Amino acid sequence: MRISVIGCGYLGAVHASAMAELGHEVVGIDVDPRKIEALAAGRPPFFEPGLAEILTSATGSGRLRFSTEIADAASAEVHFLAVGTPQSSDTHAADLTHVDAAFESLLPHLADGALVVGKSTVPVGPAARLAARLADEAPHASLAWNPEFLREGFAVKDTLEPDRLVYGVADDHAASVLDHVYRAAIEAGTPRLKTDYATAELVKVAANAFLATKISFINAMSEIADATGADVTLLADAIGHDARIGRRFLNAGVGFGGGCLPKDIRAFTAHADELGRGESLRFLKEVDAINLRQRQRVVDLAIETLGGSVFHKKIAVLGVTFKPESDDVRDSPALDVAVQLKGLGAEVIATDPQGIENARLRHPQLEYTSSTSEALRGADLMVLVTEWREYRSLDPVVTGRLVAGARGIDGRNVLDPVAWRKAGWGYRGLGRP
Ligand code: UDX
Repeated sequence: MRISVIGCGYLGAVHASAMAELGHEVVGIDVDPRKIEALAAGRPPFFEPGLAEILTSATGSGRLRFSTEIADAASAEVHFLAVGTPQSSDTHAADLTHVDAAFESLLPHLADGALVVGKSTVPVGPAARLAARLADEAPHASLAWNPEFLREGFAVKDTLEPDRLVYGVADDHAASVLDHVYRAAIEAGTPRLKTDYATAELVKVAANAFLATKISFINAMSEIADATGADVTLLADAIGHDARIGRRFLNAGVGFGGGCLPKDIRAFTAHADELGRGESLRFLKEVDAINLRQRQRVVDLAIETLGGSVFHKKIAVLGVTFKPESDDVRDSPALDVAVQLKGLGAEVIATDPQGIENARLRHPQLEYTSSTSEALRGADLMVLVTEWREYRSLDPVVTGRLVAGARGIDGRNVLDPVAWRKAGWGYRGLGRP
């Protein structure tokens, strides 16, 4: 099929490349000329495992093009709206400016029978509103809402092999067009749910709210574990064996961050307030508060471990991204901890396999090194806040020879406390005795 993808960020660039990988003819559109130039040259503007491979193969074959001109989307049969919906500057609500601007710019270019497909994360409402705009301005076109559940770090796999497809549609025709787009996944037996617009919009924010709640639940348990001497990692294993609960997303630590979970739960609560249903989602405010408290807990542990003050102490912060296998530092708990420690007068040296460039743009006041051993050399304290494989596999004996003080805070509960203590380290996790 001929497809356009409007917005080429973390979502759109992957979606465009994956659609071309599936054999479609795709044009990616973005207003940022630097992003478009990089993508057209086969260079992903951010780190995402597997993206460079499918991007180069698709641009090389001619199936994937990029442009800053929305008119270049005119011949497409299906248009995916994949622009961002950031948190508004003055409230917690989602800012829909980019969705509206992309949609309005596309309107004059819609061919007969074109399908506009919303992918951006939104509150309930925009789909019906945009469908009404189409009915007035371009009745020859129709609209679907098809939320995206990709995880950074697994974005290519999640797009090519989604665990479910959700089509918010007003008629069977739109669903059959989407079936063509996702033929490979459908033939592979991927569950496909056909819903109304409101349900499709709600599925995405509800899924993210549930995941955030699961993480904050286990982090709350880790606070109780700290107060009682219990071990939250064993607790998670034990409750996780109950198939109704499940072990995934029960890793206690410095908490969730990134471009989705934090902003989506805030936008969801703001939306509930607008609907006069604030009390229904009041618990999400608590989920947010528990999550932010984890960052403070790591900072407080650092102060305690260093005898009451971090002032002029050298602290190696391992990780700045919000999760491993990503270069994304948006709302990153790791970077937040580094900044707070620096603010308290510590000599922070932060390191990360992929995130330094993005971190430096936001926080140039921090010192960075790409070398883990350089960060650790002479450190009074090691703080692990993003569980990159190379930090998880650090050898406590070798690491012990690098640092000035063998004290470690495991902000992701991924190191083996027994091995680290045996090597002479003062080990502290979150909710681990
Ligand atoms: C999330 C959703 O998973 C995805 O479906 C949606 O499309 C976008 O938002 P992503 O932001 O890529 O994806 O990251 P995710 O893997 O969900 O992790 C979010 C945060 O939670 C990370 O900071 C991670 O470190 C943290 N996390 C995750 C925990 O602290 N504990 C866990 O057990 C799991």
